[in-house]
Amino acid sequence: MDEASAGGMGQDPVGSKGLRHLPFDRLPVFRLADPRLRTTLGGVALDNPLILAAQYYDPRILRRAMGLGFGAVTAKSITVNPRPGHPQPNLVRRRSAAGPGLVNCNGFQNPGLEAFRASIAGLPHRVPLIVSVAGETVDDYVALVRALAPLGDLVEINVSSPNTRLVYAWNERPRELHGVLQALVAVSPRPLIVKLSPDFAEANERDIIPAALQAGVRILNYGNTRRIDEPRLSQRAGGLSGPEIFEATLANVRRTRQRFGDALEIIATGGVDTPDKAVALLAEGARAVSYFTAFITRGPILARRILDSLLRSS
Ligand SMILES: Cc1cc2nc3c(=O)[nH]c(=O)nc-3n(C[C@H](O)[C@H](O)[C@H](O)COP(=O)(O)O)c2cc1C
Repeated sequence: MDEASAGGMGQDPVGSKGLRHLPFDRLPVFRLADPRLRTTLGGVALDNPLILAAQYYDPRILRRAMGLGFGAVTAKSITVNPRPGHPQPNLVRRRSAAGPGLVNCNGFQNPGLEAFRASIAGLPHRVPLIVSVAGETVDDYVALVRALAPLGDLVEINVSSPNTRLVYAWNERPRELHGVLQALVAVSPRPLIVKLSPDFAEANERDIIPAALQAGVRILNYGNTRRIDEPRLSQRAGGLSGPEIFEATLANVRRTRQRFGDALEIIATGGVDTPDKAVALLAEGARAVSYFTAFITRGPILARRILDSLLRSS
């Protein structure tokens, strides 16, 4: 199935079909190399602070995306066993005064640990690759991190996708989550990122972020989609992404930075679809900014526009 063209998304400017087959990444127009843009995440060097957020697992797409201006690229969350995902429609466009967004109930459609591992084993890391994992038990997460961390430069622990109980339920069990993260810090040869849900802002600050810090995790991705009702989707609910969630992202980054200071490196994700929004999040103390929806709705040139803007404001 085409990941981004599922559920009536066939007219995307850069759907997964186009990305897989057209060599956009050979065109230098998408990239901008300048030492002033360089940063680090968990000690890993990035040419710039822009990251493609998790959604694609096809290595042909990941490879192309690595040539489209991003400082790092995140792969889709992988589960131990293959999952077909939720039935279609599982992705719809949503219009709002803020601009075009998406609502998805993808349900972790992915090839599973073994097939994914084999598929990315030969992937050249033109830029750092962030592998993402989604588990239901501590054993799931440990198996995923052991197998995938050596193939990535950083590892993202997804505890926030709202479309299944698979990972979302961890937010109700912060003590257990602390145990999971502790186990993962012990086995991971790569820096860990915890990806949070904007649906649990209070619990994040009270329980989840302190649990992550205590376990030794220093990087947060804030965050995932926001759960909403959506009668057009097969599950009647899904995760909202795009500009409607930007203000919450900005507020979450600001509050987290104020509360936890420099103890954390923050990747700000959610609603970035203009250069100004990326600049605003970095000004609030985010170390890096990531997006997915605007890659679809604004096309691949957005990364370059953001990089130009960051240089102008540096
Ligand atoms: C179709 C779709 C699939 C996604 N799959 C994942 C996933 O596997 N793991 C994950 O952590 N986030 C996933 N996300 C969430 C995005 O990575 C991102 O956090 C979210 O869309 C908010 O950013 P945006 O407004 O820039 O899209 C997905 C989003 C969409 C729209």
